[in-house]
Amino acid sequence: KSVSSGKTTYKSPSNIALVKYWGKKKNQIPANPSISFTLSECATVTTLSYTKLDTPSAIFSFDVSLDGKKEEGFKPKIKTFFERVYQYLPFLKDYHFEIETSNSFPHSSGIASSASGMSALALCLMEIERNLNPMMTAEFFNQKASFLARLGSGSAARSIKGSLVQWGEHEDIDASSDLYGVEYPHKVHPVFQNYCDTILLVDKGQKQVSSTVGHDLMHGHPFAEQRFNQAHENLLKLQSIFETGDIDEFIGIVESEALTLHAMMMTSRPYFILMKPNTLEIINKIWAFRETSKTHVCFTLDAGANVHVLYPENEKVEVEQFIKDELAQFCQNGQFINDHVGKGAQKI
Ligand code: PMV
Repeated sequence: KSVSSGKTTYKSPSNIALVKYWGKKKNQIPANPSISFTLSECATVTTLSYTKLDTPSAIFSFDVSLDGKKEEGFKPKIKTFFERVYQYLPFLKDYHFEIETSNSFPHSSGIASSASGMSALALCLMEIERNLNPMMTAEFFNQKASFLARLGSGSAARSIKGSLVQWGEHEDIDASSDLYGVEYPHKVHPVFQNYCDTILLVDKGQKQVSSTVGHDLMHGHPFAEQRFNQAHENLLKLQSIFETGDIDEFIGIVESEALTLHAMMMTSRPYFILMKPNTLEIINKIWAFRETSKTHVCFTLDAGANVHVLYPENEKVEVEQFIKDELAQFCQNGQFINDHVGKGAQKI
């Protein structure tokens, strides 16, 4: 069945890795498995309008806008994405696409929009695929959306569902796959439900080194092998932590993962540093507050200077006060975003 034109909108969240993906093989296959909390407030909304062409185009025909303004800068990344997914979505050259996108977080805030953006676009494309193939199951739909999102940006594979998503094969964890993200299949203690994440916007500048380049630098990295093994071990440890609710052990793994990610950057050739002085100020404040307050606040980092402050829901009042009083001063224009674990993408 051929559809001549239509429009579809998805809202897809960002996610924050607890065990980090850093390093990849060919075709966006991760060098190690990772796991993340799906976020809720930090999201991209994408509307995809499609019009059937009279004759299939030799090239991909599309326009992109961000917040209502044409955004030529996004085109190369989307073109690459289309090239990668074309073999799985052969209708791509039959249509002209208008991609309208907007983010819930401030533009160029240093929050990675690739996970939310690529997953939203993948879901919109799957909606067209479902028109052509109405019998597909919801499970297949989500799996293929994650598979396609992965080809846009690895971490995007973890943004389709919530609240805890694993991506990358692990011998001891059921149903894990290198090809798409799966909802974490084991027991999760209530203390980890509705977990909070306040994102501190430390530096809004363009990153000096892209994550594509960073992943590549894990090839021939002197510590690569140990790091990939460690990620497997940390995932396994998290499995029992999630079951028992041992939050102190959780903190140990999550903070170590964040610092290890940045240690990999600092020990590659060429080496680089994405943390800023205020990143370290914040980390020290968090450690001091954890000592004195009896809360279980901890931090994690993405490939950038911003800090994700993680804490259980029942400590929200105390930790949010601490963030306002002591951490906001280290953020650009005092900006931060209070977020929490979410349930994944939704059709709008
Ligand atoms: O999805 P990419 O290629 O932008 O890589 C992101 C990697 C980290 O955010 C640093 C870690 C992760 O697992 O999300």
